[in-house]
Amino acid sequence: MAKLSFISILALALCCLSSAKAREIHTTESPIDDSPFNLTTSYSYVCHPSRFSELGLDIKKYAYCDSSLPYHIRVKDLIDRMTLEEKVQQIGDTAKGVPRIGLPKYEWWSEALHGVSNVGQQGSKASFFDDVVPGATSFPMVILTAASFNETLWKTIGQVVSTEARAMHNVGHAGLSFWSPNINVVRDPRWGRALETPGEDPFVVGRYAANYVRGLQDVEGTENVTDLNSRPLKVAACCKHYAAYDVDNWLGVVRETFDARVREQDMIETFVKPFEMCVKEGDVTSVMCSYNRINGIPACADRRLLKDTIRGEWDLHGYIVSDCDSIEVMRDRHKWLNDDAEDAVSQALKAGLDLDCGSFYSDYGANAVTQGKVREADIDEALRNLYFVLMRLGFFDGSPKFDNLSKDHICSQDHINLAIEAAREGIVLLKNENQTLPLDSQKIKTIAVVGPHANATDAMIGNYAGVPCRFTAPIDGFQQYGKVTYATGCQGVVCKNDTMIYPAVRAALNADATVIVAGLDLSIEAESLDREDLLLPGYQTELINQVATRSRGPVILVIMSAGGVDITFAKNHPNISAILWAGYPGEEGGHGIADVVFGAYNPGGRLPLTWHKNEYVDMLPMTSMPLRPIYSLGYPGRTYKFFNGSTVYPFGYGLSYTTFNYSLAATKRSLDIKLNKYQHCRQINYTDAAFQPSYGSETILIYWSPPSEIRDAQIKELVAFNKVFVQAGHSAKVKFNLNACKSLRYVDYKGYSLLASGRHTIAVGDNILSFPFSINYEVSE
Ligand SMILES: *[C@@H]1O[C@H](CO)[C@@H](O)[C@H](O)[C@H]1NC(C)=O
Ligand SMILES: *[C@@H]1O[C@H](CO)[C@@H](O)[C@H](O)[C@H]1NC(C)=O
Ligand SMILES: *[C@@H]1O[C@H](CO)[C@@H](O)[C@H](O)[C@H]1NC(C)=O
Ligand SMILES: *[C@@H]1O[C@H](CO)[C@@H](O)[C@H](O)[C@H]1NC(C)=O
Ligand SMILES: *[C@@H]1O[C@H](CO)[C@@H](O)[C@H](O)[C@H]1NC(C)=O
Ligand SMILES: *[C@@H]1O[C@H](CO)[C@@H](O)[C@H](O)[C@H]1NC(C)=O
Ligand SMILES: *[C@@H]1O[C@H](CO)[C@@H](O)[C@H](O)[C@H]1NC(C)=O
Ligand SMILES: *[C@@H]1O[C@H](CO)[C@@H](O)[C@H](O)[C@H]1NC(C)=O
Ligand SMILES: *[C@@H]1O[C@H](CO)[C@@H](O)[C@H](O)[C@H]1NC(C)=O
Ligand SMILES: *[C@@H]1O[C@H](CO)[C@@H](O)[C@H](O)[C@H]1NC(C)=O
Ligand SMILES: *[C@@H]1O[C@H](CO)[C@@H](O)[C@H](O)[C@H]1NC(C)=O
Repeated sequence: MAKLSFISILALALCCLSSAKAREIHTTESPIDDSPFNLTTSYSYVCHPSRFSELGLDIKKYAYCDSSLPYHIRVKDLIDRMTLEEKVQQIGDTAKGVPRIGLPKYEWWSEALHGVSNVGQQGSKASFFDDVVPGATSFPMVILTAASFNETLWKTIGQVVSTEARAMHNVGHAGLSFWSPNINVVRDPRWGRALETPGEDPFVVGRYAANYVRGLQDVEGTENVTDLNSRPLKVAACCKHYAAYDVDNWLGVVRETFDARVREQDMIETFVKPFEMCVKEGDVTSVMCSYNRINGIPACADRRLLKDTIRGEWDLHGYIVSDCDSIEVMRDRHKWLNDDAEDAVSQALKAGLDLDCGSFYSDYGANAVTQGKVREADIDEALRNLYFVLMRLGFFDGSPKFDNLSKDHICSQDHINLAIEAAREGIVLLKNENQTLPLDSQKIKTIAVVGPHANATDAMIGNYAGVPCRFTAPIDGFQQYGKVTYATGCQGVVCKNDTMIYPAVRAALNADATVIVAGLDLSIEAESLDREDLLLPGYQTELINQVATRSRGPVILVIMSAGGVDITFAKNHPNISAILWAGYPGEEGGHGIADVVFGAYNPGGRLPLTWHKNEYVDMLPMTSMPLRPIYSLGYPGRTYKFFNGSTVYPFGYGLSYTTFNYSLAATKRSLDIKLNKYQHCRQINYTDAAFQPSYGSETILIYWSPPSEIRDAQIKELVAFNKVFVQAGHSAKVKFNLNACKSLRYVDYKGYSLLASGRHTIAVGDNILSFPFSINYEVSE
């Protein structure tokens, strides 16, 4: 046996390597129908004997309704009964049903990004609010919830949202399939949809996805059934938009025509990784493919990304759906291969796209088959994938476990309390000079709450929202702690002139403390709207400066935004004592902000994305996809993994009212791997890290840095995290197990996953603690 040690990377194909594509899905059962099959109002499920007899049908003749048979037999029976024309009517988001065989209409499109939403097919009323269900709990936008770094919170919110969804479904106000969450990585700080996502780190995004999806989908006690194709579902979730989609509308470059030029290395390492985690760790029932092209091929027509990767390699148990009208976009906007409608439909079906959000499948599917462009068997396959999901949801047989959920379970006090908790857990303390915070309500009797978001309501729930149970605006939240005086200082966040600044200054002059609530909203960053700069809009900076200069008491700046804002002026301002970032904090946002300012809650949130200086955006166009710097063009790297310049606040940044002291417990420092001739990888566990803080909740971030000899490697990469609560004067031991194949994986330029030999580094936080870790290979002849 020869013992060799490699200095360069030992090229082993270790973990998975793959890439794939998918886009958006939206689903919902359509409870109210103009067909004779007004399903949910009279019957809560399809296979009800009296429903069939009312239709003049004998249910016993329909094997698809025989619950003693396995799903594959029932699904086959159902599909075999349909004509080709009938089949194609079921593979658009509004599945028309087949009255002749007792199959009702179903609307697949609903949304539940941070609460049940009424965005979607409002015309056909997939999910909606009215006097019967006036509202549902509206949690913070995902970017803030992500900042909690608390996986339990992420899953718990999913559970509450699905409980409310089921309760709404029971009264005909929601479907069973929801096209959430949005798990695209925030590659560029200008991206307008950052608010919907868990931020810039693929691993955090993937863990968020797996937890939120499990919260939405899992039926307690059945998570680990052996046949995952028949695993019961509470509601069906969807991870979107697959993949490399993160340009919405930047200087006229729009998502519908954008061709993302992406290297395999970035696909595996960044763009596809969260989707892989969502499918493998979350067992999500759906993935949505995106509008854009990837290296020339529309995502929804790429068989390698859809069928081969999502279904093949990752073993999806569910369906793949298009972002809305993607097939039409393929023909009309991308002009892909000069396709006519039937060509585009055929290519999408063959690529593995099961459901068209739109009407192209339904309008052109039958012709595509008769013209010989696609086989009817491909349509049957799509239907099979869809009906398995409906079977698992209890659409045919009911769901005794959830059928008794009622309106009382929507906007319950417990759910509202969780919305408060989520806002508190996410809020990030960015600055706290002289320990000004928390304020003492014994001393601070009057509070000036000023700025364009001082009375924020709709702005706090962002997009993909529903109607909230209620709002607690910042001025309402602070009223619990003192007498509030209020002035907006601006008209709206655009803040076009300085005419309204003086009333805000006057309020600050007369108050014991001043809270300025400023930032962005959907008029600045949104779907179809990327930013062009990273500054506060209009006269907001002027407003903040004037108030800070004249304020009698301490000044606390609260920023509502998703993307980072270059607030260097406020960071350095001697009279701004404290800065908080509150994302878009949901219906109870004002409650959470005031609790943090007055110390009812000790902040523990961390930034889920880098806050860049404004000049960053002048250094590279949004359309440049590589994460690594492009030296020849002078483009800097993207995200904390590849950007080495200075920032306003780095990824993972966040203060507490507590000082934590870390120390390292027993830790393995090296790994010797013996390789047999055909043995390419070994699973390993290592490391224990422990710390002794004093009190509060602390987010522990564990980073890995590959051996420094590797060219173009990431500076560092988050490989584990945990949120812990530690009592005053106590300590907690926190254990992290890392799998070297997953956590120490280096993806080379060709997309191969490698475990490099040599000296790696594992660090806690921003070098609070770090230690080298060596990997040594021993190869036998
Ligand atoms: C569905 O049924 C409900 C209750 O029977 C009725 O109020 C509603 O109008 C029906 N919807 C349609 C579109 O027929
Ligand atoms: C299912 O498996 C996971 C991971 O193996 C485990 O954590 C969980 O407790 C199991 N759930 C049930 C209900 O057995
Ligand atoms: C609904 O019924 C199930 C059993 O059928 C029971 O486990 C559950 O607690 C009930 N839920 C409510 C809210 O009553
Ligand atoms: C705050 O906003 C709400 C909703 O827009 C409005 O009803 C209320 O009057 C506002 N409060 C103040 C003090 O202006
Ligand atoms: C200031 O802006 C507001 C709102 O945009 C507008 O109504 C007002 O006329 C402007 N005032 C001046 C002096 O420009
Ligand atoms: C800070 O506040 C003091 C006292 O109110 C004032 O004199 C000073 O000009 C302020 N500094 C700035 C930079 O606004
Ligand atoms: C912090 O305290 C120092 C010393 O008392 C003082 O000079 C400074 O202005 C204070 N800064 C703020 C932001 O309150
Ligand atoms: C960042 O990386 C570039 C390119 O490697 C290098 O020229 C520059 O010196 C680095 N800057 C810092 C602050 O390390
Ligand atoms: C932090 O912990 C280390 C090691 O346990 C100890 O030496 C040091 O004194 C502690 N620092 C504080 C501020 O408690
Ligand atoms: C790794 O950790 C898991 C869970 O703690 C354990 O089941 C497994 O045996 C460990 N594997 C090795 C190689 O130590
Ligand atoms: C994480 O979230 C859960 C659910 O809201 C909460 O009970 C727990 O206290 C949180 N953990 C920490 C450390 O904040």
